[in-house]
Amino acid sequence: MELKRGYFITFEGADGCGKTTQAKLLVEWLNKKQLNNIFTFEPGATDLGKSLRQILLHYDKPVANAAESFLYLADRAQHVQGVIKPALLENKIVICDRFVDSTLAYQGFARGEDIEKINFLNKIATSGIAPDLTIVFDIESEIAQERLGKEKDRLESEGITFHKKVREGYLKLAQGEPQRIKVINANNSIEEIFEQVKKLVGELLNL
Ligand code: TMP
Repeated sequence: MELKRGYFITFEGADGCGKTTQAKLLVEWLNKKQLNNIFTFEPGATDLGKSLRQILLHYDKPVANAAESFLYLADRAQHVQGVIKPALLENKIVICDRFVDSTLAYQGFARGEDIEKINFLNKIATSGIAPDLTIVFDIESEIAQERLGKEKDRLESEGITFHKKVREGYLKLAQGEPQRIKVINANNSIEEIFEQVKKLVGELLNL
């Protein structure tokens, strides 16, 4: 089926919320319907981004909060220009695992960086491109942490208090932008969650 324009859908949530599994199911579903789509993610979907992701997730010395924000933003700027914008111009559905709201939830709400400043920097990094739909997969922080297992990266290794702030941050963002950001209860089964994902995406695409 030909789409008349591109659609930008982002998946968000704390580490271990199951969003990547859902994104993959969505890709399969859209492929079956022959709807042109791409799956992408942050950080690390471009060549430059791969190097940035390595630093962001595995650098083993202290990182200043602002430096961490700028690294995610640099990854985003490259990603928007090299991957997201071109796909939207080709009228594709872009499914992106994490985007601007991750920086707001993690660096803003959890690390304490100023939200207005991040909003401003996000605008520069995205050149104004905003998601049509953002799905937040909301899960109890303790359950999400258990799912991660023992091998944790730099961000995942933050304590439960940090991850609770991330979760609260997402819920606040959703309250502030209820039109764009929809919250799904991710404590349910994979199938139940995916039913809700299909409903939200179906509504957006008029399926
Ligand atoms: P991933 O595990 O979903 O691939 O994401 C990598 C980590 O980076 C995850 O812990 C969330 C974190 N992150 C931020 O802190 N800020 C951001 O802007 C993005 C995109 C991710």
